[in-house]
Amino acid sequence: TQLCYHSELDRLKTQVRELEAQLKVLQATVRKAQKVLLFPNGMTVGEKIFKTEGSEGNFETSKAVCSQTGGLLASPRNSAENSAIQQIVARHKKMPFLGINDIQTEGIFKHLNGEALGYSNWASNEPNNSEGKEDCVEVHSSGKWNDRSCAEKRLIIYEY
Ligand code: IPD
Ligand code: CA
Repeated sequence: TQLCYHSELDRLKTQVRELEAQLKVLQATVRKAQKVLLFPNGMTVGEKIFKTEGSEGNFETSKAVCSQTGGLLASPRNSAENSAIQQIVARHKKMPFLGINDIQTEGIFKHLNGEALGYSNWASNEPNNSEGKEDCVEVHSSGKWNDRSCAEKRLIIYEY
């Protein structure tokens, strides 16, 4: 049985090595497929995907269109995610609205799921609630944020 135990262990070790090699191939294949599928309208950041179809809508429409596809309106949680959104803005030369607003309580911006803002990237002197009617957030080509009227039409960027 001692001999048997050792050969079984060797067999398992070989199997683990084979699986590791197969996993590497699979990961490379997925990465390549993702790169092809997401060019030129999408970006991956960690586990998140940002994507646009180039269409525009006001805040309510943008939100609705995103959830219809099983996604959410893009809502960056850190600077890497904000940079990915910035790159999409640059490619399309159009600003998006983020999934962030202060509709509920003036001056308290939140994500669509009610989460408080951890990361933010406001332009200087923003948010200023200009004319008392800016509850949504647009992203400039600099990556900086400005609060803006939710009635404006902006590039729809989904996140998954
Ligand atoms: C801007 C506009 C915009 C507002 C910004 C302002 P500007 O003024 O009024 O609606 O959201 O906060 O800076 O730069 O076009 O004079
Ligand atoms: Ca503003």
